[in-house]
Amino acid sequence: MEKRMLIIDTDPGIDDAAAISVLLSEPSLDVRLIASVAGNVGIEHTTNNALKLLAFLKKDIPVAKGAAAPLMRENRFATNAHGMSGMGGFDFPEPRKELLLENNAVMNEYKILMESEEKVTILTLGPLTNIALLISTFPEVKEKISEIIMMGGSTERGNIGIYGEFNVSIDPEAAKIVFRSGIPITMVGLDIGRKARLLVEDLEELEQSGDPGVMISSLFRSYDGGHVEEGVKMYDPSAAMYLMEPELFETKDAFIDVEISSPLTIGATVVDYDGTLCEKRNAKVCVDVDVERFRRRYVQRVADITR
Ligand code: BDR
Ligand code: CA
Repeated sequence: MEKRMLIIDTDPGIDDAAAISVLLSEPSLDVRLIASVAGNVGIEHTTNNALKLLAFLKKDIPVAKGAAAPLMRENRFATNAHGMSGMGGFDFPEPRKELLLENNAVMNEYKILMESEEKVTILTLGPLTNIALLISTFPEVKEKISEIIMMGGSTERGNIGIYGEFNVSIDPEAAKIVFRSGIPITMVGLDIGRKARLLVEDLEELEQSGDPGVMISSLFRSYDGGHVEEGVKMYDPSAAMYLMEPELFETKDAFIDVEISSPLTIGATVVDYDGTLCEKRNAKVCVDVDVERFRRRYVQRVADITR
C-alpha cells in the first residue's frame, strides 16, 4: 500500500495527545515527523510531552523542537485546560529523548519536504508559528505540500476571545501568512470540536478497551476543569479524524483571512463563503460532522491502537 506522508505540527496538549495516538496507528499514514511548537504550554513542555507520548505508545517517530514563541507576540499558555505541564492527568513513562532531532522543527520540515518525491500532508494542532516560518524562509516548499489540515479558527465564536480561537489567536500573524500562502488548506475549527463531543459512556468504553484508552480517558477526565458530564470537546481529534475519514465531515469552500489589528476581534477567522469580500477562495472549511459516527469511529480507533 502506498502510504500518505504526514508531518504533525503540534503543542501537546491533552487533545493533541488524543489526536496523535490514533494517527500513529493508522496503517495508510507514514508519519515522518512530530514538530513541537509553543502553545498550550512552553516549548520545553510540548517537546517533552511528545517524547513522553511516544514512550507510552512505543513508536519511533522523530521529534523536532520548534518555535518557542509567536512571531510578534508574547506567549499565552492554556494551563487552565491542559495543566501546568500540558499533559496532566496521566503518569507517562520517561520521555524518549533519543527521538529528539538535533536541528529545529523548521529545518527538519524543510528537509523532509524537499527530499520527498511525493507531496506531503501537514496536520497542524497548535499555533502556526513553525509553518509560517517554514513557508516564509523556504517558499519552494509550498510545491511539496499537498494540503495543510489545520485545527484552528472558528466559523462562529471563539474560546480565547469573543471570535478568536486559541491556535490562531496566539499567533495571528503566523495564521495569516499560512492562509495567504496559496497552499490548499482545510480548516477544522472550534465549532466542529464543540459539536464532536465524547460522552461519559464513551470514556467508560475507552477505559475498558486497553491501556491507550485508559491513558486518553484519564487525560480527558482532567481536561478543561474535568466537566466530562457535558461531553469532552474533541478539537485536535476532529482534525485527525478529518484527515483519516473525511466522509464523516461536510465541508464548504471559502475565503478565510485572520484579523490581526482590531483589539476586539484579534485572531478572528473571517470566513467568507459567498464571495462578499471579492477574494478568491483559499480554503475548505468543515461545517458539519456526523457526531454519532465520529464517536464510534474514534473509540474504535483507540481500541485498535497497536504498541
Ligand atoms: C485548540 O487549542 C488548544 O488548547 C487545543 O489543544 C486545540 O488545539 C483549541 O482551541
Ligand atoms: Ca493543540
